[in-house]
Amino acid sequence: MIAIITGASSGIGREIAKILARDYDLVLVARREERLAIFCEEISQTVKRDGTKCRAVAFPCDVSKPEECRRLYEAYAEEPVEILVNGAGLGGFGQIMDVPIEQEMSMLYVNIRALHLLTKYFLRDMIERKHGYILNIASSAAYMPGSPFMAAYYASKSYVLSFSRSIAYEPEVQKSGVYIGTLCPGPVATEFHKIAGFQGNPGGMSPERCAKYAVKKMMRGKKLIIPGLSVKFTYIGSKILPAGVLLWMAKIHQIRKSKKG
Ligand SMILES: NC(=O)c1ccc[n+]([C@@H]2O[C@H](COP(=O)([O-])OP(=O)(O)OC[C@H]3O[C@@H](n4cnc5c(N)ncnc54)[C@H](OP(=O)(O)O)[C@@H]3O)[C@@H](O)[C@H]2O)c1
Repeated sequence: MIAIITGASSGIGREIAKILARDYDLVLVARREERLAIFCEEISQTVKRDGTKCRAVAFPCDVSKPEECRRLYEAYAEEPVEILVNGAGLGGFGQIMDVPIEQEMSMLYVNIRALHLLTKYFLRDMIERKHGYILNIASSAAYMPGSPFMAAYYASKSYVLSFSRSIAYEPEVQKSGVYIGTLCPGPVATEFHKIAGFQGNPGGMSPERCAKYAVKKMMRGKKLIIPGLSVKFTYIGSKILPAGVLLWMAKIHQIRKSKKG
């Protein structure tokens, strides 16, 4: 059985791939070909729990392009894809008028459009087979009212959570037994912050810990996965505090985070 992981060249996606390699053959998706090839070689050495070796395939693909998402789907439409992890994603820091529109759009194409397309493509087959898992990576940003300096990113992650949760409760999906879950981590120590344009290193949970928790909860059927106690508190806070207070707190947090060295 196959697990497809987008965003497998680094961070959370890469760590999820390492865990799934114990039980599944893998399709590793990202843009950086060389890095993906090296990781693929490395992960192919994993011996699965059934005693066979993990068969991993590197699938270089820019998911910001819809035709590339389609190409990925068509390559595996006839295969027994058991798991899809939509892990590819990126952030962007800056006040709305300072961020180039092209940069924002390419983020939205990955965070929203690619995740939507791939979920929809693979879900149809999973429903027919009455089996499968789709794990969409959102963020703790998803359940907040928003954040100054990261407006488009927060909105994109709210989309991921709302979209994934809504589908998970649709009758056809529920009847089929297909799992659709959303992972909402707080800060995780990956390349994310550098790519998003933060000057310092905001730190955070290790991607290994985040991935381990996510896979464990996914296998138990948990639909909303929030790793770490402090992030769980922010979730509770988001349900209690007024939006204005949360937005003000988010602004202070972003300013501090951008200055941390
Ligand atoms: N790190 C955090 O603090 C944090 C917190 C909450 C949520 N998240 C979310 O977690 C997910 C994974 O992020 P991460 O922290 O693991 O960051 P990361 O280390 O930067 O990994 C991002 C991954 O996405 C891939 N990617 C980006 N654009 C792509 C594109 N156009 N086509 C294909 N792949 C693309 C990257 O591969 P290539 O560059 O090789 O294409 C990379 O493998 C993201 O959705 C992020 O929003 C992160």
